[in-house]
Amino acid sequence: MEPLRIAIAGLGTVGSGTLKLLEKNNKLLEKRTGRRILVTAISAKNRTKKRDCSIDHLEWFDDPVGMAREANADVIVELIGGERDPAKSICETALGSGRHVVTANKALMATHGNELSSLAEKNTKFLNYEAAIAGGIPIVKALREGLSGNEIKRVYGVLNGTCNYILTEMRQQRKTFDEVLQEAQNLGYAEAEPSMDVDGIDAGQKLSLLASLAFGCRINFSGVYTEGIRRISLIDIDYAEELGYRIKLLGSARLTENGLEQRVYPCMVDQSFPIANVEGAYNAVVAIGDSVGDTVFQGLGAGSGPTASAVVADLVDIALERRAPIMGVSTNDLRSLPEAPISTHRGAYYVRLMVSDRPGVIADISAVFRDENISIESLIQHRRSVTEAVPVVMKMHECLEESMQKALSRIHHLDSVIETPTMVRIEDLN
Ligand SMILES: NC(=O)c1ccc[n+]([C@@H]2O[C@H](COP(=O)([O-])OP(=O)(O)OC[C@H]3O[C@@H](n4cnc5c(N)ncnc54)[C@H](OP(=O)(O)O)[C@@H]3O)[C@@H](O)[C@H]2O)c1
Repeated sequence: MEPLRIAIAGLGTVGSGTLKLLEKNNKLLEKRTGRRILVTAISAKNRTKKRDCSIDHLEWFDDPVGMAREANADVIVELIGGERDPAKSICETALGSGRHVVTANKALMATHGNELSSLAEKNTKFLNYEAAIAGGIPIVKALREGLSGNEIKRVYGVLNGTCNYILTEMRQQRKTFDEVLQEAQNLGYAEAEPSMDVDGIDAGQKLSLLASLAFGCRINFSGVYTEGIRRISLIDIDYAEELGYRIKLLGSARLTENGLEQRVYPCMVDQSFPIANVEGAYNAVVAIGDSVGDTVFQGLGAGSGPTASAVVADLVDIALERRAPIMGVSTNDLRSLPEAPISTHRGAYYVRLMVSDRPGVIADISAVFRDENISIESLIQHRRSVTEAVPVVMKMHECLEESMQKALSRIHHLDSVIETPTMVRIEDLN
């Protein structure tokens, strides 16, 4: 059988990992697919850069879009990143000129995935993107194939390894967010500009793809409600532990009577749930099907090896002509679902207030919650000797987000409340 010829755009962490994996497992892949997977061409920004993989025998293109059009290749593997050009043009050009595409680019798929899927479908080409969601975890395959007999009830997960690493280190090493972020940047685990990770954007991109696959709807990244982890402090991590919870940056999507809920925020999850014990740089995705129940997938969501593993799996599918609709159903059948606004969220809440230690404070706070129909389930007040402000921690019964926001904004203006109130949602995973 003819070899599958591939051209790779981008030779960074994922591109070089993919080249190395294809070389290392070359014989195994040939046995599995019945044909060779042969890299024919490459492109990156700097031709003279020293690389930790051998590329001298491969045709070099300075222009990756030109490579997508002209290379002697059946598949273009886009591993440059970013939602704009050249990544976007590479994929469009490849699909438009009769080539399949494999990409690890969640930003591109979250923003232009609908159009790219239509283009691929129109040209009967593959557009495979396993590495774009949770790196090495084969969740696209799981949702699109392994769980295809189920109606998916909910999909949620720890989708950003950097945030999970920071939250884990804060708890285990008793360090502040800023300290751990700085260390992570020094070690190369976090970007110098960390916003994509710590503000939840990267997790939101992945969640929008998961939601589309799970619920057969068009990708709607702008409909993802996103909060990051910058406001999480050690004191809240400690109180979470005391209450039997753990704080995780969770991405969660489900269909509700108000529409499609797509949310990324730090929340408290019961310590007995598997997701609470996903630590460090690991990712995990839980998909709940009407027939199968809960399924849990865990693994490394980033890094050269794990991400290359997903890219190569996508290539194997192409080599075997193993097809599934790009987003689980034909693009014509993808639904446009209304967005469930965060104001309609219902759940329990953790609230921490820093108050001045004087009589009547708790009564004032309780009155505001009562006015908003919110009842307090439990209250913790540990005395702190030296400072004027004392923390009052409350676990609130289930209530509407809108009411909680109103209550917090009123409480913020009470004279006895010294800092902006801290609120963390308590996520019901049952
Ligand atoms: N890193 C991970 O663990 C991970 C995990 C999952 C998904 N992903 C996704 O995988 C993709 C690649 O990520 P990465 O971490 O491998 O990125 P990276 O290490 O920054 O590598 C980017 C590569 O693209 C090349 N490049 C940049 N601009 C270019 C241009 N205009 N023309 C040609 N080449 C250009 C760079 O060339 P030079 O080498 O010459 O500078 C470099 O080789 C992204 O979409 C990312 O979101 C990454």
